[in-house]
Amino acid sequence: MQTQRNKPVGQSKPVAIVTGAGGGIGAALTRRLAADGFHVAAVDISGKALDSVITSVQEAGGSAEGAVVDLRDEQSVSSFVARLPRVDAVINNAGVFDERAFMDLSADDFNRHYDLNVVALFRLSQHAATRLPSGGKIVNIASRAYLGARNHAHYVAAKAAVVGLTRAMAMELLGQGILVNAVAPGLVDTPMLQALTPERRAAQLALQPTGRAARPEDIANAVAFLASPQTDFITGQILMVDGGKSLGGTAAL
Ligand SMILES: NC(=O)c1ccc[n+]([C@@H]2O[C@H](COP(=O)([O-])OP(=O)(O)OC[C@H]3O[C@@H](n4cnc5c(N)ncnc54)[C@H](O)[C@@H]3O)[C@@H](O)[C@H]2O)c1
Repeated sequence: MQTQRNKPVGQSKPVAIVTGAGGGIGAALTRRLAADGFHVAAVDISGKALDSVITSVQEAGGSAEGAVVDLRDEQSVSSFVARLPRVDAVINNAGVFDERAFMDLSADDFNRHYDLNVVALFRLSQHAATRLPSGGKIVNIASRAYLGARNHAHYVAAKAAVVGLTRAMAMELLGQGILVNAVAPGLVDTPMLQALTPERRAAQLALQPTGRAARPEDIANAVAFLASPQTDFITGQILMVDGGKSLGGTAAL
């Protein structure tokens, strides 16, 4: 079921779809792309989360509309994409994360993570690719965790799939002139981080070479670059935005 929260405006502007727009990173992406001149079609399963983001964009003079869409539902995604006046960029940001030791994981945990983090990303991208022009951009939010991490093998595997999917999509969609890249954040200061136990949160922060988690705006800077015309010759790339964490233990020395 898809519900439109605000009347669409700004058809003359390029349109960027941002998923998970009500979340910690998605809100920052929505605000940044609106500030960069996009009309943002902000998608979330939670209308309440969307409302405050849309209001903040409009108060800042930007252009955005909210759509309550369950990205796991084919029909909702298809009708959402079809009703947009145009589509110039897609930011696949919605995701789910929880912590569980490998020995405690079930197939359901894997399916839940794949359904949103991978299959929903594929579904929206495929629908949007029928609307994107040559020069259109898809930016997938992966995670540094795809390199491996403890206590969330299901999430690690799903984000590794996002990396593979990004490269495969980049190859197949290049014929249409669509550029596909991914941003792989390290730890970001969002409700996802706050959901960790205090002990796990402290342990995660201790592992950061910079001594801090990324701000959502750090991720938005990278996404804004990859969604801009400055990257018309860049495709299939995974941009780590992790304060050096992926360099390994020596980064902090
Ligand atoms: N926070 C981090 O430290 C971190 C690190 C690396 C990567 N990431 C990735 O960044 C992305 C955003 O993370 P976040 O921390 O902002 O998460 P978040 O939980 O704050 O936001 C996720 C948003 O997705 C929405 N959503 C959930 N299910 C949905 C569905 N079926 N349809 C539509 N929307 C749905 C939620 O309502 C929520 O607003 C995710 O892909 C996550 O894996 C986050």
